[in-house]
Amino acid sequence: MKFELQATDKQSKARAGKLTTAHGEIETPIFMPVGTVASVKAVHQPELVNDVKAEIILGNTYHLYLRPGTETLQAAGGLHKFMNWERPILTDSGGFQVYSLDDISKITEQGVKFKSHIDGSTHLFTPENVMDVQRQIGADIIMAFDECTPYPCDVQYAKEAMDRTHRWLDRCIRRFDETDPLYGYDQTLFPIVQGSVYPELRKQSAEYIAQTDREGYAIGGLSVGEPHEDMYEMSELVCDILPKDKPRYLMGVGTPANILENIALGVDMFDCVMPARNGRNGQIFTSEGIMNIKNAKWAKDFSPLDPNGDSFVDSIYSKAYVRHLFQANEYLGRQIASLHNLRFYLWLVKQARQKIQEGTFAEWKNVMVPKLQNRL
Ligand code: GUN
Repeated sequence: MKFELQATDKQSKARAGKLTTAHGEIETPIFMPVGTVASVKAVHQPELVNDVKAEIILGNTYHLYLRPGTETLQAAGGLHKFMNWERPILTDSGGFQVYSLDDISKITEQGVKFKSHIDGSTHLFTPENVMDVQRQIGADIIMAFDECTPYPCDVQYAKEAMDRTHRWLDRCIRRFDETDPLYGYDQTLFPIVQGSVYPELRKQSAEYIAQTDREGYAIGGLSVGEPHEDMYEMSELVCDILPKDKPRYLMGVGTPANILENIALGVDMFDCVMPARNGRNGQIFTSEGIMNIKNAKWAKDFSPLDPNGDSFVDSIYSKAYVRHLFQANEYLGRQIASLHNLRFYLWLVKQARQKIQEGTFAEWKNVMVPKLQNRL
């Protein structure tokens, strides 16, 4: 994998770059739609390519390992072939499930014992087998096995989890480096910075991760309920330590405003379930603010979802129609909302990229952020 830094903003730490993977190029900053179980929910692959214009999508090791399982994925020739997605894929490691399935998992030095949410069967994830599973899935970018701490989290536990994450990272790197890709193209491993909201821990973690000299790095453990100011402080502190010539991926973030603020701090890659999940619940993100499409005020509004929206669905459907679909509980409503929101996120990061290249990102961001938070 190659990363080329193409432009940096003079008035912020925003960057524009290009990542080259075996499955094609990704222009950064980028948003990665989440396709947890080999599906970006409610969106067909051609729509994902042609309408959303997604450049890379995310899969999840935990879910794919449980279902369909690595035997099926290997028989298919890897996840790209299985789901007919020819562009890059990144897989998360399962470290986040450790956090979100807290009550049905147990963490030890060896790894994490957990119960399947599907049939209750018991499994063990270790740094080693999580590398093996991600080799079998065949993602272009695979994530280290980490422990994402909840918020709030006392400093002592945050340090324990961070130290364990670093020890697990050493094991991940060893296993990754001694194994080969299974499908004839290169894969790369991104380590993850932890340390909760404690500046001293974040500094230690970022320094530890930076010295591993990998092709890209991630920031985890944020957007778990902490105030946005804490997220920005941690993100900035970490980006200032990570090497400038490698991409930085902020995991699980966030709202459109969060994304622009973090781009300004030097983040290059994002993923979040928010556009698709909130879309399925009727929340529409637009360049003018956030809208609950189920609201009666849209009943006779025949204008597009976003006056500046360039998505295919914006060009053919009105607010009133989409509201009606939600009122009538039609699948199509959820599909249109998912497509619109995903395209909006991709549009937003592309606008950011263009403004960085034109040298006007900081002013543009300051105008956009309050607008993006408007409740329409
Ligand atoms: N997704 C969101 N946050 C995290 C994190 O801290 N670790 C992992 N592995 N995935 C995440």
